[in-house]
Amino acid sequence: MSRFIVNGGQELSGAVGVSGSKNAALAVLAATILSESRCEIDNVPDILDVRSFLKILEIFGARINFSDHRVNVDATDLRSVSVPRDLAQRLRGSILTAGPMLARFGRAAMVQPGGDAIGQRPIDVHLDGFRKLGGRITEKEQIEIEGKLTGTRVVLPVTSVTGTENLIMAATAAQGTTEIRMAATEPHVQDLCHFLVAMGAVIDGIGTPILRISGPSKLHGAQYRICSDEIEAVTFCAAAAATKGEMTITGVDLAHLDAPLALLERMNVVFTAAGNMIHILKPKRPYRGVKITTGVYPQLLTDEQPLFGVLATQVVGDTTIHDWIYEGRQGYLLALKQMGAEVTFGDKNHATISGPTDLHGTEIRTPDLRAGASILIGSLVARGRSVIYNAEIIDRGYEKLDERLNSLGARIERVD
Ligand code: EPU
Repeated sequence: MSRFIVNGGQELSGAVGVSGSKNAALAVLAATILSESRCEIDNVPDILDVRSFLKILEIFGARINFSDHRVNVDATDLRSVSVPRDLAQRLRGSILTAGPMLARFGRAAMVQPGGDAIGQRPIDVHLDGFRKLGGRITEKEQIEIEGKLTGTRVVLPVTSVTGTENLIMAATAAQGTTEIRMAATEPHVQDLCHFLVAMGAVIDGIGTPILRISGPSKLHGAQYRICSDEIEAVTFCAAAAATKGEMTITGVDLAHLDAPLALLERMNVVFTAAGNMIHILKPKRPYRGVKITTGVYPQLLTDEQPLFGVLATQVVGDTTIHDWIYEGRQGYLLALKQMGAEVTFGDKNHATISGPTDLHGTEIRTPDLRAGASILIGSLVARGRSVIYNAEIIDRGYEKLDERLNSLGARIERVD
C-alpha cells in the first residue's frame, strides 16, 4: 500500500496536460476483442485500471504491447474464458468484456464485477439487454450468456454507461438492426462508437440517446486515439480554483465540458476556455454557493460531483448537492468534514456544504477513486499535513497525479 503525505497551503500554478480518458480506454480496449487482427490504440492513460484490463485481455489470449501510451492488441487467437474473480472484483470495467465476447464467440462468462464502493451497482440492464438480443443467461457461481444474436429494439430502463457500451458491442454481431433507446451519451460511449465505426461497424445516432447498430459486421483492426479525459480536466480545474492559483490546462476537449464549465462560472471562478485549453485565473470576487445536481451527460457527471464538493468548501454560502446516481458518493464529504468542512447531510443522495471554511490536515483512507481526488485537493487547500493511506485507489484512474500536482507547486510525497 502506498500513501500520500501532503503538506498543504500552496497555490497551484503552471501548466498541465490532460491524459486520455480512463473510461473510454476501457471500452475501446474491450472492443478490440471484436477484431481478429491487430489494433493500435493511442493516448491510453497508464493507470492501474488499464493495466488490470490489459491483464484480462492477456488471459483471454491477446498479445499486448503497452508503451508510451500506445497499446497494440493482437486479438487473433482469443478464447472465451471467464474473467478471473480477483480481476473482475478489482475492476467494474471488466464487465465490458461480456458484450464483445458474446458477439465474437456466442458465449461469455463472468462473475459479478466489483469496483468502487459508491453504491448499488447492479448489472440487470446489461443482462436484460443481452436477453432481448437472444442471449440465454444462467446465473450460478458465475454468469454465463450464450446465443446467436438478432437485432431488436432495446429500451434501457436506466441509462447505464457500461450497459449501453456492452449492448452496442454485442449488437455489432447481431443479425439485423438493433435500436438502443435511452442510451448513454457520455464522451466515452461516443469514443467507443467512433472506434467501432473505424473497425467497420455501422452505427447511427452516435452521441444521442437513440442508437441504431446494423449488423452483423465483420470487424477489422483499426488505429484509434482515445479522447481526452473530461473528469481529469475537471480535477485540475477544481485544484486550481480551490487553491486560488492560476493554471493552464491543455489537451482538453471543451465540447465535453459544458456542464462543469457552466458551474465554475456560476461559482465565480474566473477562467478562459478556447481551443483545447482552459486557463483558470485568480478569483476577482469571492466564490459563491450553487446548486449541484448530477445527471446523464451532457449534464454534470456523478464522477465530477466530488471535485465540485471540495471547491464548495471555499465558497461563500451554501452549496447543495443532489447526486441521485449512487447512494454511496458521500464518503468524501465525511473526509472533508474531518478536515474542518461544514457539511449537513440529508439523505444518502443530498448534502449541503457551507463555506468558506479553513481546512486542516488529517489522516484518512479514501473510500473510492473520485473521493480520493477530492480529498487530495482538500489536503492541498488545508493547513498542515495530511496522509491519504490508500493512494492506489487514486492511481486506478489518474496517471502520476502526485507528480503532476507537484509540478504545479503541490507538496505531495508518495511513501510505499
Ligand atoms: N444501474 C442499474 N442497473 C444496471 C446498471 C446500472 O440500475 O444494470 C444504475 C446504477 O445503479 C446507477 C446508474 O444506473 O444508479 C448508472 O450506472 P452506470 O451503469 O451508468 O455506471 P457504470 O457503467 O457501472 C460508469 C463509469 C463510472 C461512472 C458511471 C456513471 C466506467 C468503467 N465506469 O459506470 O465511472 O461513475 O458510469 O457515469 O465507465 C469512475 O470513473 O470513477 C467511475 C466510477
